[in-house]
Amino acid sequence: MSTILVTGGTGYIGSHTTVELMESGMDVVIIDNLENSKKEVIDGIREITGKAPHFEEVDLRNRTATFAVFEKYPDIEATIHFAAYKAVGESVEKPLAYYENNLLSLINLLEAMKKFDVANIVFSSSCTIYGQPEEMPVTESAPIQVATSPYGNTKQICEEILRDEVASGSTTRVIALRYFNPVGAHISAKIGELPLGIPANLVPFITQTAIGLREQLNVFGNDYDTPDGSAIRDYINVVDLARAHVVAIKRLMENKQKKPLEVFNLGTGTGLSVLEVIKAFESATGEKVNYKIVARREGDIEKVWADTSIANEELGWIAEIGIEETLRSAWKWEQTIRK
Ligand code: NAD
Ligand code: WQD
Repeated sequence: MSTILVTGGTGYIGSHTTVELMESGMDVVIIDNLENSKKEVIDGIREITGKAPHFEEVDLRNRTATFAVFEKYPDIEATIHFAAYKAVGESVEKPLAYYENNLLSLINLLEAMKKFDVANIVFSSSCTIYGQPEEMPVTESAPIQVATSPYGNTKQICEEILRDEVASGSTTRVIALRYFNPVGAHISAKIGELPLGIPANLVPFITQTAIGLREQLNVFGNDYDTPDGSAIRDYINVVDLARAHVVAIKRLMENKQKKPLEVFNLGTGTGLSVLEVIKAFESATGEKVNYKIVARREGDIEKVWADTSIANEELGWIAEIGIEETLRSAWKWEQTIRK
């Protein structure tokens, strides 16, 4: 049985990926410092898979503690690196914390992998690095734009660190996955997204408004150059996203890479406007969303959706779950956690 180290494995995307890895017969060791997640997530994973992953409460900024995990689990064959700070707005207020956490965690992980002869890493990147692309849908070869937030810049720098490490002649092999907008929850409603405080992202704000936790959803702008004037994104189901990680890990372990660093867009290939997402939520759940059009949010781009043809062809992976089913899963999760 292959052992995979999942950093940030109790977080939103990490927990769903852990489930999919375990259901594919892999053994998972999680590293998480629980700064943005809860230990109880492990119970949810156990309830779904019938088994608990190994869990190490470790901060990746601590190199000694990170190395100790590799010593404890000599069978680790590959890593998936989710652990990072991810709030765009907060990163503008606390840039140093973002650079320290997101860069140092990756560097420590790569150092540990080198020392313990682990070559394979899947890295969580983001469509934020494309900024507002000139051509749509956006392909992996679209130019990387100057980052508009320290968070976005950490993703660009992390990709550069990985590129330089591979170019140095090290044995490290990388698949960087650029996620578009991950949404939804596991169909069991045993794991899902747990935003702390007021959510910045659209879907948790919709479900919290529908359940009465927030009075109203602000729709940021209806004067964009889009069919209904609201901004367009590519919303990808988190379980579809998680499955792509299983494919990527197998590709690395089976030596199927065409080059030592590969990059793939992970999205559905379809853009939806904010107003379309609200309508889809209402029709999927029968709930009304109290919303109001307000001014644009600073820093937002107008539209972005993925060209997924390379991921589809090379990985043999495709997003399968439709938006209504996805939003129903988010709603079921919201109802479960408010009980
Ligand atoms: P999340 O915050 O739910 O999960 C990240 C986990 O990492 C948390 O459990 C947190 O406690 C842990 N963590 C953070 N710093 C750590 C450290 N120094 N040591 C150990 N653990 C640490 O976030 P998520 O939404 O699951 O995102 C996972 C990854 O995907 C991140 O790298 C994020 O930047 C990237 N990403 C997310 C999105 C999105 O919209 N959610 C989009 C694109 C990319
Ligand atoms: C989606 C759309 C908002 C909230 C962010 C990060 C990006 C990536 C994914 C990590 C936008 C609108 C939102 C609300 C609204 N993360 N909206 N009312 O901004 O596309 O991307 O998450 O890498 O880096 O920037 O996602 O969910 O915040 O917004 O109208 O209350 O919904 O304006 O058009 P975004 P989001």
